[in-house]
Amino acid sequence: MKSLEEKFAVLDRKNEEALQGGGADRIASQHKKGKLTARERIELLLDAGSFEEIGKFVMHRCKDFGLDKEYYLGDGVVTGYGTINGRLVYVFSQDFTVLGGSLSETHAEKICKIMDLAMKNGAPVIGLNDSGGARIQEGVNSLGGYADIFYRNTLASGVIPQISAIMGPCAGGAVYSPAITDFILMTENTSYMFVTGPNVVKTVTHEEVTSEELGGASTHSSKSGVTHFACPNELECIQKIKKLLSFIPQNCEDDAPMLPYEANGDELRPALNTIVPENPNQPYDIREVIHGIIDAESGFLEVHQNYAENIVVGFARLAGRSIGVVGNQPAVLAGCLDIKSSVKAARFVRFCNSFNIPLLVLVDVPGFLPGTDQEWNGIITNGAKLLYAFSEATVPRVTVITRKAYGGAYDVMNSKHIGADMNFAWPNAEIAVMGAKGAAEIIFKHEISKAENPEAKLQERVDEYTNKFANPYKAAHRGFIDEVIKPEQTRQKLIKAFKMLENKVAKLPAKKHGNIPL
Ligand code: HXC
Repeated sequence: MKSLEEKFAVLDRKNEEALQGGGADRIASQHKKGKLTARERIELLLDAGSFEEIGKFVMHRCKDFGLDKEYYLGDGVVTGYGTINGRLVYVFSQDFTVLGGSLSETHAEKICKIMDLAMKNGAPVIGLNDSGGARIQEGVNSLGGYADIFYRNTLASGVIPQISAIMGPCAGGAVYSPAITDFILMTENTSYMFVTGPNVVKTVTHEEVTSEELGGASTHSSKSGVTHFACPNELECIQKIKKLLSFIPQNCEDDAPMLPYEANGDELRPALNTIVPENPNQPYDIREVIHGIIDAESGFLEVHQNYAENIVVGFARLAGRSIGVVGNQPAVLAGCLDIKSSVKAARFVRFCNSFNIPLLVLVDVPGFLPGTDQEWNGIITNGAKLLYAFSEATVPRVTVITRKAYGGAYDVMNSKHIGADMNFAWPNAEIAVMGAKGAAEIIFKHEISKAENPEAKLQERVDEYTNKFANPYKAAHRGFIDEVIKPEQTRQKLIKAFKMLENKVAKLPAKKHGNIPL
């Protein structure tokens, strides 16, 4: 019989073996690709010394295709819990050095175990993905493992935040776990996501495309919108995860952490007065307005920065309070709403609403983008997503119209009519059914065509319409705008409004779930 010392030595040996993953050579090869190992990533992500591993000695069960001779403690994924800035998180980190980080039945069970714990204890799950996909030797067992994860991702959606970092390959059906989670981050040049890789693409569509072009970080952050953040390297990716978590609560019954704030005399921000050009057709960057309003120290964490740039969404703080910001971007496509921007903003609004993050909406929108491309691709259904998302949001919702609010887009962009709590407008705001020229051409069509000088007549009617409607006062007279404020007052007014709304209780009618126009 072994002595206690010998038994301890066995344990020490096993612990040491588990730390080696797929061995020194494969670790070196991982480093050569510019990638960290699964454990190094966890080390960087979590507070020092806080990681507690679960399932370190788990091994695969499959005995086919040589797997009866090749065993690795931990089975290609490091799982457990720890803290980030003192807050509990659960984490899984796939180990590419073990059978390419491929997902076996037991590998999936380990991930499911920490997801179940996260759900019971109300804390975020962070997945660091680096995997060759389903473990080919295991066949349907690994597919079942994926489905077990997808199912849990779905049940956890809206209950606990779920964040996916893609730091290596992520292909086939494996992409659907990250896709269900709240945020995806990708590392540039070392990660890719696609349903079918370049070889299959070539066979089926005869397109020649590299992995990077097909599904790299820049593709998914700008073309498809699949990823919310493209990060230059793994370190920045991990820092971004921490920053993101700082704005969001632990679960749907919690509030985001509030930072201490003392009024320091900078509530009045005169710089806001000169951002919007006097000429209503001249663009400006809505980010300048956002930075002009928010707490400078926490900054603005922009989500989907390079995708559907005609709308800007992201997290910020106002007097220490975490808020979600949605703003039309007049610098791109004049800030109009189109399919991509509507879907981007709708998803962001729904995230904020799921996790009790109040919404600030900055409006400068000339309307929806016209055209066959938009109509044939379903701007009706997709624009409705944003309308639906705002309408069902029960978090505090405050709107500031910085310039244009025209047509249906006025209604959609968190108008009073669809449940916004406080609606402000700047004095230069234009709130109307449509622009003055278009309006005059329609309602005075006959008069203009019969006029001696049609151009002069048109201008006369345009001026009349402009004077009547290109201002915020018609809406303010009706109470659709609660207050017309000078831009410099905006921060001060918003701090008070969100404070006033902090105990807001609003409930939707009882239902199983709504039917958002997907
Ligand atoms: C088992 C795998 C594996 C897998 C890689 N490996 N992928 N083992 N199952 N899916 C092993 C390799 O045999 C190799 O083992 C080691 O991991 C590293 O792989 P390399 O090919 O040497 O690395 P690299 O050149 O960097 O290429 C990485 C790769 C490639 C692009 C991911 O390995 C690859 O194409 N793998 C197969 C991808 C795939 O088709 N997966 C199934 C997708 S379908 P050794 O012993 O040599 O170190 C899928 C369906 C999910 O996932 C559906 C869910 C519903």
